[in-house]
Amino acid sequence: MDRIAIEGGSPLFGDIPISGAKNSAIKLMAASLLTSEPVRLTNMPRLADTRLLGRLLARFGTQISESDGPDGQQTVLHTPEITSSFAPYELVRQMRASFNVLGPLLARTGHAKVSLPGGCTIGARPVDLHLKALEALGAHIDMHEGYVFAQAPRGLKGAEIEFPFVSVGATEHALMAAVLAHGTTVMKNCACEPEIADLAECLNAMGAKVSGQGTTTIVVEGVTSLHGADWSVICDRIEAGTYAVAGAMAGGEVRLTRVRPELIAILLDKLVEAGCEVERGADTVTIRRKDAKIRPVDLTTDVYPGFATDLQAQFMALMTLADGESVIRETIFENRFMHVPELSRLGADIRVTGNEARVHGVTELRGAQVMATDLRASACLVIAGLAARGETIVNRVYHLDRGFENLEGKLSACGANIRRLKGDSPIMEEE
Ligand code: UD1
Repeated sequence: MDRIAIEGGSPLFGDIPISGAKNSAIKLMAASLLTSEPVRLTNMPRLADTRLLGRLLARFGTQISESDGPDGQQTVLHTPEITSSFAPYELVRQMRASFNVLGPLLARTGHAKVSLPGGCTIGARPVDLHLKALEALGAHIDMHEGYVFAQAPRGLKGAEIEFPFVSVGATEHALMAAVLAHGTTVMKNCACEPEIADLAECLNAMGAKVSGQGTTTIVVEGVTSLHGADWSVICDRIEAGTYAVAGAMAGGEVRLTRVRPELIAILLDKLVEAGCEVERGADTVTIRRKDAKIRPVDLTTDVYPGFATDLQAQFMALMTLADGESVIRETIFENRFMHVPELSRLGADIRVTGNEARVHGVTELRGAQVMATDLRASACLVIAGLAARGETIVNRVYHLDRGFENLEGKLSACGANIRRLKGDSPIMEEE
């Protein structure tokens, strides 16, 4: 398995271009199943997760072509006919979000058999809300042997759906199913993440009638069919936030390009509180920390526009070197502090009680061997390694490859001393 070696201590100076959002790209790919015409996605990140979903879609009859076009990396997905509506365990277990093919398959063909994604390293993460939403739309759902069998032979029907709590995946899943339902669907207590608006707007470009995206109530007027479209994937706010924190941690001056600063507004505010200078341009953000000490900052993760749970681990890495104590609360996922023991191996002083971590800043981190446990935790270990004295080796970096495009290239272009040590092929695990 590949590893990443980082020799800490070099400040970062330079530009980091931000890729298209993984969490949007994979939903847009799934949405392409809803039409028999080609969907061209530009600003596409090339990641292990997008490749994996591509393999799954190919089983359903999707023809996929990737190229570098005038608008950057693009992927054209074309499913003239759904040749199979079966999503096997081996593929779904490797990426939870691939469960979201269920809705589009069901909406287009009236039936689907999709494996349950199973548990994962950051908590139980059930899919009950997804299934209840599909049932509300008239699907008949059965479960056996780890598979969901869904049927709606006469099509889905518009309905009122009120989510008992906010779920990104369930909001997107219900949305993708509702666009081809007969009649109007009103979804309440929806997630407002920008990737949901990206999906809704792409669906509208395909001929859907969705309104209210970006708010807690989304209304979908069902249409009988969708057509092809061209869509540019929204920038990856989690990747942007990760490099912003990396810049703060290593010191120096990093300019993020191809970014929408408003999508990481709360994180940028926290970096200012922590002692960084932040300049927001139209599609750039500059993060500067010269000699200033890192100040301790408390945070609580929340649904958008609150502090993203996917940036919690990275910010905690920064706080390990703060001049005092910070309190970090995780409210979205149980068990999302698995990076804590790994940060401790680098010399961090962190106490966890329930969903709260108290981080006592230390004067230095020291390089060590550490293990990536999930996607965002891996990024936090790289960030810590950038500032640690000596060499940090991050093991199991296939997690990073799921969500960060060319991480070593982007950081080393800014002066980081980081390189990939090639190993055997990875054994993928569900996250
Ligand atoms: C998505 C993101 C992930 C991010 C998360 C929260 C993708 C591919 N992943 O994950 O990076 O960390 O949003 O911003 O877009 N839950 C249930 N039942 C359900 C669905 C969810 O109990 O049917 C719970 C989950 O266990 C979790 C909480 O709801 O505790 C929020 O999960 P959700 O918003 O659905 O996250 P994902 O869509 O899985």
